Amino acid sequence: MTDLVVRRLLIDLETPFDPRWNGGDAFRSAFFNALSMSFPVGEQFFIDSVREGWKQLPPEQQARMATEVKGFVGQEATHRRIHELFKRHLSDMGFENSFAERARKRIQKQAHLDVRMHLAATAATEHFTALFADWMLHHPEALAGAQPRLQTLWLWHSAEESEHRCTAFDLYQALGGNERRRLQVFRYVTVTFLVDILRQTVRNLWHDGSLFKLQTWRSASRMLWAKDGMLRGNVALWRDYLRPDFHPSQHPAPMSQAWLRDNTAQFTVVGQAA
Ligand SMILES: [Fe+2]
Ligand SMILES: [Fe+2]
Repeated sequence: MTDLVVRRLLIDLETPFDPRWNGGDAFRSAFFNALSMSFPVGEQFFIDSVREGWKQLPPEQQARMATEVKGFVGQEATHRRIHELFKRHLSDMGFENSFAERARKRIQKQAHLDVRMHLAATAATEHFTALFADWMLHHPEALAGAQPRLQTLWLWHSAEESEHRCTAFDLYQALGGNERRRLQVFRYVTVTFLVDILRQTVRNLWHDGSLFKLQTWRSASRMLWAKDGMLRGNVALWRDYLRPDFHPSQHPAPMSQAWLRDNTAQFTVVGQAA
């Protein structure tokens, strides 16, 4: 069981930012913008899945997980709100968000499925966010040149994603979710998530006028495909999810705790697990 704290970020998100807010780097800006565009819809889906899954637990398990679920929902609701503000600036700059629309349709189409399917999809996506989050905390250069308030936003989100990486997975197991389905859904989520991010990143780069510039793809290759890049450097950890005895807590996340400990001036705690 994890003690999850809900934090309110003390940063200014009202002031607009540049289209290439991430250090003037077109690719890094477009890629993070694509992620941000997916968050409000995605995080609402995680909240709904975890809430519904928790409701279906037997009473004694409900009691055991109540504070963790409350913390998870509070953290994801805060992320959703913050990225809603971030996304508003993107749409003011004319960026079109097709990622969220595709995700919304997919969620609607699969709404009738057993809650364990929703939890399997949530746990699978949370594996990605936890890997990306830990990578971000180890590679702050991915945000080099961004305004400190925007660096804080992305690192705070990363720290909390890492912190609550077990919740959906534990619920899936507590509800008797089986291994075969867990892996099937993980493979499906891997493909849809990566394709959606790529499509939206390309769309953002097109709008920015930098899709066909060599510099753009040099930056992409540095950030994603370098030996310790966000994608290539995470392949082994991604694959861990396929092991029958995998649990997200097997991936230690000391960087998340360190960031939260060293940056207490950036947030206030608004809810604490009792
Ligand atoms: Fe989140
Ligand atoms: Fe999350």
